[in-house]
Amino acid sequence: MNAHPHQSGERLAVVHNGIIENHEALRRELEAEGYAFTSETDTEVVAHLLERESRQAGDLLTAVQRVLARLDGAYALGVIHAGEPDVVIGARKGSPLVVGVGIGEAFLGSDPLALLQVTDRFIYLEEGDAVRLSAGGRIEVFDAEGAAVEREVQTFEHGDGAASKGDYRHFMLKEIHEQPAVIAAALEGRLGDRSALVESFGPEAEALFRQARQIHIVACGTSYHAGMVARYWLERYAGIPVQVEVASEYRYRQVVVPEGTLFVTLSQSGETADTLAALRFARTGGYLASLAICNVPGSSLVRESDLSLMTQAGPEIGVASTKAFTTQLTALMLLTLALGRVRGLDEAVQAEVVTALRGLPRLVERVLELDPAIEALSMAFVEKHHALFLGRGAHFPIALEGALKLKEISYIHAEAYPAGELKHGPLALVDSDMPVISVAPNDELLDKLKSNLQEVRARGGELFVFADEGWG
Ligand code: BG6
Repeated sequence: MNAHPHQSGERLAVVHNGIIENHEALRRELEAEGYAFTSETDTEVVAHLLERESRQAGDLLTAVQRVLARLDGAYALGVIHAGEPDVVIGARKGSPLVVGVGIGEAFLGSDPLALLQVTDRFIYLEEGDAVRLSAGGRIEVFDAEGAAVEREVQTFEHGDGAASKGDYRHFMLKEIHEQPAVIAAALEGRLGDRSALVESFGPEAEALFRQARQIHIVACGTSYHAGMVARYWLERYAGIPVQVEVASEYRYRQVVVPEGTLFVTLSQSGETADTLAALRFARTGGYLASLAICNVPGSSLVRESDLSLMTQAGPEIGVASTKAFTTQLTALMLLTLALGRVRGLDEAVQAEVVTALRGLPRLVERVLELDPAIEALSMAFVEKHHALFLGRGAHFPIALEGALKLKEISYIHAEAYPAGELKHGPLALVDSDMPVISVAPNDELLDKLKSNLQEVRARGGELFVFADEGWG
């Protein structure tokens, strides 16, 4: 768990992932009782609540269970107390928590990857579960009602060095270079000679896809950008109307759901709280069915959706998403082809896209061969504080994703615009201090894009264009 421990006094400490939504009311209650806070965090509220309860309850587990009943929001917790030195209590609701099962020992973590160095056997705790780990590796799981339950121990599938950096300097670089292999894995067994295999999405997929009249795609961050790209593909090839929305907006909106709407979530982890909440809301909202496109088998999103397709990217350890994004795009093109097939997309076009998809891993390899050239280009950004990304059509969301990556990784402020919007404001910001990055494939929008880039040049902007061979 990537979280700072918080203490209440000298005897109790807690780590927490997630958000406690009612922390302010709880804080006021505790302050009125004399608890002194050293931070503004919701985690410290949990620590003091636990401390108060542990003085009344007979044992730490009971104290945790009583506190859980007071918490609104999403959390994964780990708790220790000096009074029970051989015990660790864990609990989850809305955020993932796994128990690593060792030999004579047990571990708690938010992600099995963090524990792969010590075990490859895991218990995936369910919503509302609490667990008591005691000396000697004893593991007791209790459900949301407090009843003792058995949860299956599962062996992790990717024990093949996925959690090691190998020869790479960091995980993100390793994962960027894994793309050709994982894109091939995402296609494996899902393409026929001239069309996609619709049953890759599940045995009921064909019947459901035939009834689909529109699609709502909901996701967060990079996954949302993948969904935005897919809208262009699905409308163009499958002729189906698509709405794409960030989950944190969708879940609080009064959504109107037309009949025959397929609800699609995209997520690397399958545990993102807003995406999961959106799915749970959608399940009551009159949708035709739900489909999760996800990288983690057995994740909450996959378990709770009617249909699922795994992106097969393998564990993504780098915080900034890379191979997860490109395998999502691959999966979304498979969805486009599958829907296109049941909706009568021209067979020659299907065959052409299938051939292009089969060639994709090799093309990505060729792009990766540009690594030294791109590294040299990056030197131009070292002293810059801002950057502008431009794209048109399906490459507008690619520009958004580029800007997100630059922000996340280098802390350089970056914005993305559809290139046609440049003249409606952002052009005013362009000068020799503003690098402008664009993806300019040789498609029907290239000439339009070139004229947008001319405007940048005219203002003395420095252009970085990723283009097909033969760009003039
Ligand atoms: C963010 C990550 O917190 O969550 C992004 O930094 C990611 O990289 C986003 O795209 C959504 O995550 P997921 O697992 O639902 O795709």
